[in-house]
Amino acid sequence: MSTLTDQQAAVDAVPLEEIDVSRPELYQNDTWRPWFARLRAEAPVHYLADSVTGPFWSVTNHHLIKEVDTNHQVFSSEAGGVVIAEPEDLESGELQGESFIQLDEPKHAPQRQAVTPAVAPPNLAELEPLIRERAIDILENLPVGETFNWVQEVSIELTGRMLATLLGFPYEERHKLIYWSDLTTAIPQVTGDDSIDMKKRHEELMEAAGAFYKLWDERAAAPPQFDLISMLAHGEDTRNMNEDPGRFLGTLLLLIVGGNDTTRNSISGGVIALNEAPDEYQKLRDNPGLIPNMVSEFIRWQTPVIHMRRTALQDYELGGKQIKEGDKVVMWYLSGNRDESVFENADRLIIDRPNARQHVAFGFGIHRCMGNRLAEMQLRILWEEIGTRFKQVELVGDVERLSNNFIRGIKDVPVRLHPI
Ligand code: HEM
Repeated sequence: MSTLTDQQAAVDAVPLEEIDVSRPELYQNDTWRPWFARLRAEAPVHYLADSVTGPFWSVTNHHLIKEVDTNHQVFSSEAGGVVIAEPEDLESGELQGESFIQLDEPKHAPQRQAVTPAVAPPNLAELEPLIRERAIDILENLPVGETFNWVQEVSIELTGRMLATLLGFPYEERHKLIYWSDLTTAIPQVTGDDSIDMKKRHEELMEAAGAFYKLWDERAAAPPQFDLISMLAHGEDTRNMNEDPGRFLGTLLLLIVGGNDTTRNSISGGVIALNEAPDEYQKLRDNPGLIPNMVSEFIRWQTPVIHMRRTALQDYELGGKQIKEGDKVVMWYLSGNRDESVFENADRLIIDRPNARQHVAFGFGIHRCMGNRLAEMQLRILWEEIGTRFKQVELVGDVERLSNNFIRGIKDVPVRLHPI
């Protein structure tokens, strides 16, 4: 692993106009900090004329990210999608996935509203005991005294179980949801891995579509229930969604990826963050009442969704730079959450940070994360239950991360448990 001085030297050696923060290896090696620090200081709205996904603007400070995210009239999610890769690169074969995260108004709102009740407070209150029961079951069966991968045994397990519950997906087949979620974001332009077999990926996503169609037909024929598929199948604006295969698959994959990778990586990131900050870990032991705020701080610190992309529908001046109609504009949430003008000592985890909730990790505006309360609840419950069993989840080896410029993903967190 390179030292911070090496990393800084590498950044200083590159002319400003050539800085490319879309390189997936920056996230795999966890060397992105000085790149964004330089962009925030020297060019918070920065143009890169050439990259593997073509030219794009990078927006890297907190207030300019909010300015873009809240102006959906100018910055469209529909014109070019929400990831830095171009839409034509994303799908192989005939089917183009489409979901409401990629729609502008007026099409977006009715589709979002159809599924929002599943993750609204009354339903979450119903779900809380179930999530707690599942969290306890996972924690009680961990191999105390052995080294194991926290990502696999806890982060993936808990989010997979939760997802199966939300979708009303057969519980014993829940690992399929995780597999499909991982597959959805495994695109060469996002991962930097050209060896991905896009044909096979497409075939497997078709298998996912088949499983969802089956569930859809069952739910449509039954009375409405409180799971996402049933809500879509009975919702006024969504009940014919199954007639449009691209929209059908796209929407279900959105719900899977939205609820899976993100929460999973916040659970893994929290363990890493607390181990890097032993004083904060002690604060938590001394005062478990800090857990809700700590959860927001974990999400800020981890920022599981690295960026969202928009396409300008008209010329617009942003931070003194002239954006042209049709330009690709990328909001780097990871950088916004390390903006020192908003978060003092932004690279440090501070579990009682007074403004942790001001993070941009859930976005802002009409597309603000629909599942944010669910994600926070899962994290809160998990840490409450960890706290009553273990005095430490100790990081005992090297962390392995994903090569991916969209999801800040963590593959391996080797840990040992220290029971109370
Ligand atoms: C820590 C966990 C999570 C993070 C960091 C996160 C992050 C995000 C971000 C950045 C956006 C886009 C915001 C924008 O463009 O302004 C988003 C949208 C979305 N998220 Fe999450 N998310 C998380 C958990 C979840 C969960 C658990 C669900 C479960 C249902 C979910 C479902 C969605 C959906 C459906 C959208 C699209 C909303 C729309 O377009 O109107 N997310 N999320």
